[in-house]
Amino acid sequence: MSSRPITPAAGKLPLPELVAMKRRGDKIAMVTAYDAPAGQLADDAGVELVLVGDSAAMVMLGHESTVPVTLDEMVFLTRAVTRATQRPVVIGDLPFGSYEISDEQAVASAIRMLKEGGADVVKLEGAGRMVSRVRAIAESNIGVMAHIGLTPQSVTKLGGFRAQGRTADAALKLYDDALALQDAGAFALVLEAVPAAVAARISAALEIPTIGIGAGAGCDGQVLVWHDLLGMYPGRTPRFVKRYAELADDIGTALGHYVGDVRSGAFPEEQHTYAIPDDELESFELALSQRH
Ligand code: KIV
Repeated sequence: MSSRPITPAAGKLPLPELVAMKRRGDKIAMVTAYDAPAGQLADDAGVELVLVGDSAAMVMLGHESTVPVTLDEMVFLTRAVTRATQRPVVIGDLPFGSYEISDEQAVASAIRMLKEGGADVVKLEGAGRMVSRVRAIAESNIGVMAHIGLTPQSVTKLGGFRAQGRTADAALKLYDDALALQDAGAFALVLEAVPAAVAARISAALEIPTIGIGAGAGCDGQVLVWHDLLGMYPGRTPRFVKRYAELADDIGTALGHYVGDVRSGAFPEEQHTYAIPDDELESFELALSQRH
């Protein structure tokens, strides 16, 4: 068998188109999704990239951080999204613990994401030792997106969910990490919570596209988490989030009306019920009466 790269499904955005978009100055839109309806809606909206992010741990599974989510859980969620998503490239996020041990572990996890989850490509966090993981996955003909800056899987080590690269030394390290990840074969790079000026400088230096989240308009694309973008929870959102809807309010109002209608008897109405022909009902009643 030849080692040709895995070919995309018909209608799928070809991965090289992302670099072409960067060269043309066309911005890339990416959003997270964790289930089939969300994947379908993201596809219909025309996004290029759908990330089944390990942010699912927090926004879907109720954990305090992204650390607890397992590869099995991520594969399950990714399968749901990929069933409903045609054109966008679907990225399966490798969770903490599924790639840190060795290059072999990283490749095995990436293969599961593709074979069982149906993902087109994978993403992992970090640089340093993770550069070798990126290279191993890319050399296995699997597209891999890198992610530096605020890397939530290392939140304890980073001292919390806070911006990164805010000193000259830290910015220089991010810059060098970005080049190393590109050199290792990453097809794109997420920059999370990085000063806009630093992210713009890194974006200009790379041939692969950067996708920013809290990294300013100088990135080649942007990503937001589904629940942040749509206002799926009450209260504060991180500084870098723009909420395009307040669905938690809408859902709360709708559920309140439903509960009220159930309690008052206003729901269901006749239009929500099924009828039985009169003669069948009469026979039914007759049969019941003859039982006693
Ligand atoms: O898991 C996730 O949603 C992410 C994005 C924030 C980039 O990694």
